Amino acid sequence: MEYNLLKGKRGIIFGALNDMSIAWKVAEMAHEQGAVFTLTNTPVACRMGTLNDLSEKCNAPVIPADATNVADLEEVFAKSTELLGGKIDFVLHSIGMSLNVRKKRVYHDLDYNYLNKTLDISAISFHKMLQVAFKSNAINEWGSVVGLSYVAAQRSFYGYNDMADAKALLESIGRSFGYIYGREKKVRINTISQSPTMTTAGSGVKGFDGLMDFSERMSPLGNATAEECAGYCITMFSDLTRKVTMQNLFHDGGFSNVGMSLKAMTQYNKSFDTDEIDTMD
Ligand SMILES: NC(=O)c1ccc[n+]([C@@H]2O[C@H](COP(=O)([O-])OP(=O)(O)OC[C@H]3O[C@@H](n4cnc5c(N)ncnc54)[C@H](O)[C@@H]3O)[C@@H](O)[C@H]2O)c1
Repeated sequence: MEYNLLKGKRGIIFGALNDMSIAWKVAEMAHEQGAVFTLTNTPVACRMGTLNDLSEKCNAPVIPADATNVADLEEVFAKSTELLGGKIDFVLHSIGMSLNVRKKRVYHDLDYNYLNKTLDISAISFHKMLQVAFKSNAINEWGSVVGLSYVAAQRSFYGYNDMADAKALLESIGRSFGYIYGREKKVRINTISQSPTMTTAGSGVKGFDGLMDFSERMSPLGNATAEECAGYCITMFSDLTRKVTMQNLFHDGGFSNVGMSLKAMTQYNKSFDTDEIDTMD
């Protein structure tokens, strides 16, 4: 659906790795909606992934950068402004990685070097890109920055490990920087808390299939897909949401406000034999 919601807007999209990535879907939709933008990911991801296909499809230059490296981020903003011909209107932070999760270190036996990396990559990078943009005045008034989060920032989820702490920090940075960036330069900053989604990062979480099935049964509208998340990001980048800032916006089919659903209860009861269900009544 082409509404030209982003016509004339310039953006930077961090975190498209392959065609399952949420950032990939955002890029495709931003292109459809008339935006011009650059794509960025780590040098390794740019080499190993399929980012060039997306770059060709969307006519979007690729700028390799490690989002934890301030000099790299300065380069991303400077080059993007130059290549796109002006200041930036929207930025997507779609970055997450935990070495503790990857190396199967459980939450009560964390490696603290890994934890520092988790926080730096998945949360502090958000602060770093905002600070770089703020100092270089790279984002236009009424520009919009979105980071992607997960409900484990608020509630405990088995297997989500130190990424829960990273998401809590990410959302807090969105609020803290959102106040300053809004006050000083009329730039808005929000996080979108997305349903579990089958991507490279998502499938690294312990028990991910079960988590997806559980949240599908718990959500009255079902899990939100990566494409649907892209749609929400696009509306947040558009001029239709200019007064929304400092929010953590749940995009999860209603999951975050459900305690128990009929579908989840039905599945739960199936795990008992008939006698046990009778005694429960
Ligand atoms: N998949 C889910 O279930 C889910 C749910 C809620 C939120 N999210 C969040 O959505 C975002 C995107 O993840 P995704 O699910 O599309 O998975 P993905 O694996 O496709 O994307 C993660 C991206 O982070 C990039 N990245 C890692 N380290 C980096 C660094 N140092 N510098 C720059 N980029 C780096 C990776 O290269 C990759 O492109 C993440 O923040 C993730 O936590 C995902």
